[in-house]
Amino acid sequence: MIPTQTPGQTSKLVDRFGRVHTKLRVSVTDRCNIRCFYCMPEDEPEYVPRAEVLTFEEIERFVRIMVGLGIRKVRLTGGEPLVRRGIPDLVAKLRGIDGLQGLSLTTNGLLLRDLADQLFDAGLRSVNVHLDTLDPDRFRFITRRDGLDRVLAGIDRCLELGFTVKINAVAVKGLTEHDLVPMAQFAREKNVVVRFIEFMPLDASNAWERDRVLFADEILSRLNAVFPALEPVADQDPTAPAREYAFADGQGRIGIIATVSRPFCGRCNRLRITADGKFRYCLFATEEFDVKALLRGGATDEEIRRYVLDAVSMKWEGHEINTARFIRPSRPMYSIGG
Ligand code: 5AD
Ligand code: SF4
Repeated sequence: MIPTQTPGQTSKLVDRFGRVHTKLRVSVTDRCNIRCFYCMPEDEPEYVPRAEVLTFEEIERFVRIMVGLGIRKVRLTGGEPLVRRGIPDLVAKLRGIDGLQGLSLTTNGLLLRDLADQLFDAGLRSVNVHLDTLDPDRFRFITRRDGLDRVLAGIDRCLELGFTVKINAVAVKGLTEHDLVPMAQFAREKNVVVRFIEFMPLDASNAWERDRVLFADEILSRLNAVFPALEPVADQDPTAPAREYAFADGQGRIGIIATVSRPFCGRCNRLRITADGKFRYCLFATEEFDVKALLRGGATDEEIRRYVLDAVSMKWEGHEINTARFIRPSRPMYSIGG
């Protein structure tokens, strides 16, 4: 179903296919303190030089312009957004933008225990925490680093403070099958949503293969074997990438983001800007638009608006992972920003 305008929502960010864009993902850094194999290379990644990373002032200006065009929700991503110094200040700045209805952040959780209180005080109320496994050995294998305890402590602190917490787990065939049930139990114990994301071809080492994807159908059948009372949630946001399932007793939820097996491009309402100020209409786009050059080149707000509207009008119908035409984007996940 294609999202349509509802009264009071006058987004100008409508593409050729009638998709209305209300969400913007802002990558604040491409740096990360761990090395998940489905994202980062094993060796030192090539990071963008710091001078090329948008300043908080540039981000705030761009978000303000985008909110003027119809963006309603912003998600801060990375790399790992919490390794960028002063993130609570950016949260506070963005919270001050009239018309912005939601602000959230996706983190690997390692620094969350230390920063949760400051983020809450700055006005953040929602975090997505990336966590694939509750097994310390598998955590180390996947992330090539230690830190499971810190992530769990960060999640607990966020729950104590009253954050809405969602967990993202990447589903990789031959690896994370063992984690499905424990992660679902975790959703129940903590009363949060755990969303399984099909492994996407965005890893820096180019190791993605279709048969390394743990598909939605298999995730569901494995969970159903243990939790037969999982029910699709009624009245879900049709534009959300995750399809959610609830347990009969209402405690905890499961979500599945089936980018590969059930592409949801037709209902996409998301746009992105990378840490180095490149505007992207799709995670998998092979072209990008240099907003930083405008921000730093003395462009007026109106010029930036026109540039973004042009870029949105070029948005493609969707990714082509399931076709022979698929071309991997030149940047891996950490450098685009989930
Ligand atoms: N495939 C699927 N999900 C990925 N993520 C990172 N790399 C990949 C990949 N190759 C997820 C992480 C993070 C989110 C932004 O993207 O779980 O939480
Ligand atoms: Fe870091 Fe996130 Fe990439 Fe993992 S997936 S290496 S946490 S940016």
